Amino acid sequence: MASERGGVHLDFTGRTVLVTGGTKGIGRVIAETFGRAGADVVVCARSEPEQPPPGLFVQTDVRDPAACRALVDAAVERFGRLDVLVNNAGGSPDADAATVSPRFVEKIVALNLLAPFYVAQAANDVMRTQDGGGSIVNIGSVSAIDPQPGTAAYSAAKAGLRTLTRALALEWGPTVRVNHITAGLIRTETTDYTEQTAGLIPLGRLATPEDVANACAYLASDLAGYVTGADLAVHGGGEVPARYVVNP
Ligand SMILES: NC(=O)c1ccc[n+]([C@@H]2O[C@H](COP(=O)([O-])OP(=O)(O)OC[C@H]3O[C@@H](n4cnc5c(N)ncnc54)[C@H](O)[C@@H]3O)[C@@H](O)[C@H]2O)c1
Repeated sequence: MASERGGVHLDFTGRTVLVTGGTKGIGRVIAETFGRAGADVVVCARSEPEQPPPGLFVQTDVRDPAACRALVDAAVERFGRLDVLVNNAGGSPDADAATVSPRFVEKIVALNLLAPFYVAQAANDVMRTQDGGGSIVNIGSVSAIDPQPGTAAYSAAKAGLRTLTRALALEWGPTVRVNHITAGLIRTETTDYTEQTAGLIPLGRLATPEDVANACAYLASDLAGYVTGADLAVHGGGEVPARYVVNP
């Protein structure tokens, strides 16, 4: 609905939103954004959060398919339904593609590609049988399009997530919408890009977690009711240069 300043205020009152990895970084801001919009929020992480969680916390390692289903079950048990899933948990340390171990690659693919698939499967089981269906938003990365040195496993997994989004959207419409955000370079507790890098982005700055959270709220809302299988680029206007610079 329209706010007094003419903007759009999204109302998620009565809706349950699950954000994986919603205890810190971008996921925390996404969870807080939905919470401010009235949603019942559920977050998970592998370990107990350092700060109070922005919703019901369910300790979960999303790389375990059984744990993904238990996570969705816990959300439904507490709030009675699941309207929105944000597959946010992800990331990777840099690693040299020539020497990286199979175990490392498997872990990165499990976190960034397989886990979103398994949580989405469990969420779809709930969403497809409830009034109003549901919406899934996958948090991807410019690395899927424009990989950086040291990110082979991560970039390949994120590229898979982008295609998975489209595939699920085709199979799960019309009851469940599935969309993807290509997130640009974001300053969080774990990433620190230089001002020189920021200057190369057409909009002249790094992305903020709020930029991603706002896009997420839009895609999950009724405003995006005719949007599925879409990729929303939140990267300030373009891919980043071939080798960007991170502060040491
Ligand atoms: N930071 C960036 O510049 C950037 C850019 C593009 C995309 N992204 C993507 O945005 C998402 C969030 O990134 P971030 O920078 O906020 O990460 P982060 O490391 O700050 O937070 C990641 C969250 O995921 C959780 N998590 C990690 N492994 C998990 C597991 N096995 N099971 C359950 N939870 C787990 C962590 O506990 C944490 O809550 C990721 O998918 C990342 O790939 C980040």
